[in-house]
Amino acid sequence: MTPLLEVKGLTKRFGGLIAVSDISFSIAGGEILGLIGPNGSGKSTVMKCIMGIERPNAGEVLLEGTNVAGWPTHKIARQGIGIVFQHARPLHRQTVLEHIILALLPDDLLMLRANRAVRERAEVIAERVGLAAVMHRLPRTLPFADLRRLELGKAIARNPKVVLVDEPFAGLTATEVADFSELIASFRAEGHAVLLVDHNVKSVAALVDRALAMYLGEYVAHGTADEVMRNETVRRVYLGGKLEVAARPDTGGIARKPLLGVDNLSVQYGKAQALDNVSITVGEGEFVSVVGLNGAGKTTLFNAISGLVPASGSVTWNGQPLAGRSAAAIARGGIVQCPETRELFGELNVRENLDLGGQHLPKDVSARQLAWLFDLFPILQERQNQAARTLSGGEQQMLAIARALMMQPNLLILDEPTLGLAPVILEQLSKALEALRQTTDITVLLGEQNVTFALPHADRVYVLEHARIVWEGPPGRFAEEAGAGYLSAPGEAGPAGLAHLP
Ligand SMILES: Nc1ncnc2c1ncn2[C@@H]1O[C@H](COP(=O)(O)OP(=O)(O)OP(=O)(O)O)[C@@H](O)[C@H]1O
Ligand SMILES: [Mg+2]
Repeated sequence: MTPLLEVKGLTKRFGGLIAVSDISFSIAGGEILGLIGPNGSGKSTVMKCIMGIERPNAGEVLLEGTNVAGWPTHKIARQGIGIVFQHARPLHRQTVLEHIILALLPDDLLMLRANRAVRERAEVIAERVGLAAVMHRLPRTLPFADLRRLELGKAIARNPKVVLVDEPFAGLTATEVADFSELIASFRAEGHAVLLVDHNVKSVAALVDRALAMYLGEYVAHGTADEVMRNETVRRVYLGGKLEVAARPDTGGIARKPLLGVDNLSVQYGKAQALDNVSITVGEGEFVSVVGLNGAGKTTLFNAISGLVPASGSVTWNGQPLAGRSAAAIARGGIVQCPETRELFGELNVRENLDLGGQHLPKDVSARQLAWLFDLFPILQERQNQAARTLSGGEQQMLAIARALMMQPNLLILDEPTLGLAPVILEQLSKALEALRQTTDITVLLGEQNVTFALPHADRVYVLEHARIVWEGPPGRFAEEAGAGYLSAPGEAGPAGLAHLP
């Protein structure tokens, strides 16, 4: 079988860094190749080089025998390659359908007033990716999974022969992951060649025909998903081991002095009730996990605590009501949120982002904190002078967590910290949180849908469902009382990246 896509000796350098080094592979029509590797190993860069978003320094990208390496993106798109980006950036004023229409006609702005045939084709695509019911809505009103669907719809709009999909599963629930897997499998069934990158190892393994592993830009292994996952180097640098956490005594409730009190908090977005009379308490030094699916209200709860969205009800901090305080004042008071959206200063480098976090600390304290964080995330030390916006997805996530820790919060709020992190990094993060708990009196409020990560650390767990708290208890009782629908089958909770909520 002649391959649709053949990549030969692909190499990409950024200054002194070799992000992709002599990578070769081919994908036939009707085949899915999985590309795996730790954060920063060069996966997204490979995709960008194929798509002409980055210009490779060496190598060939053959599409049905034509070398398109170095061509501009729009010509490569016209030749038959489409990409689904790791991060979606939809336009604000265009509806879902208009986004797909634009993707159908990227080189001809005069065609903006699209004719009927184009419109109909866009409707078919919207239907195909599961957006039929929302095609006249604006992207910002859509749930996260639908935004991912929109990216997929845009990528396949012009029926590309080769589809590049970067982290489609990140942040999706297991049901959504299953839907997306089916969609991707349907591209294969139609004869497209698919290149797939994701850290959800289990779902990738279930979907791909072959896998290729990279590390630090270089080839590590190639074969069936099974063979690659069993590879010694892949296990060491990518998969890591099991999450291990010292057992915590079952306190059976809040044993310590309450630090944060949330009482009957409600938030309304237009007609939608995003939070409905939510009450939670976090004791000093406690580690509390809020478990809930996409759209359950976790981020809204954290934003309301941090003073970022108006809410009714009350939040008390150290016994003092927070009502009327600005978000900045709340942060100065010791509540620091590491948001899902990262909120890094993209033009500033790694070091500057961290220094901003520690600016209120005495010099020696911030130096000590910085050293500790560099020890925790060595890549951040190596990349001190790199602009934050050029970091890989997972590196940005590490920087966001490090910046929050740099502020030495009394209460650290982590909103989906596992998003986009390789299994081995999850293991490191897990160890770091454990070390923090053993050596400092930090209090942590963690929002997660990845229960494999959220449970082992928690003293107590709340389950948030449709804007309400529906269960509260110790992690030991979670599986039995609240786990239905949240946990994967017994024995499947291996490396944290492998397990996701249904
Ligand atoms: N414009 C740039 N300038 C400097 N370095 C860059 C630039 N773009 C990417 N890099 C670096 O190249 C390396 C590869 O990045 P890439 O985004 O390809 O990683 P990745 O495998 O997709 O990782 P992740 O799983 O975290 O998304 C990273 O270390 C990243 O910081
Ligand atoms: Mg990437």
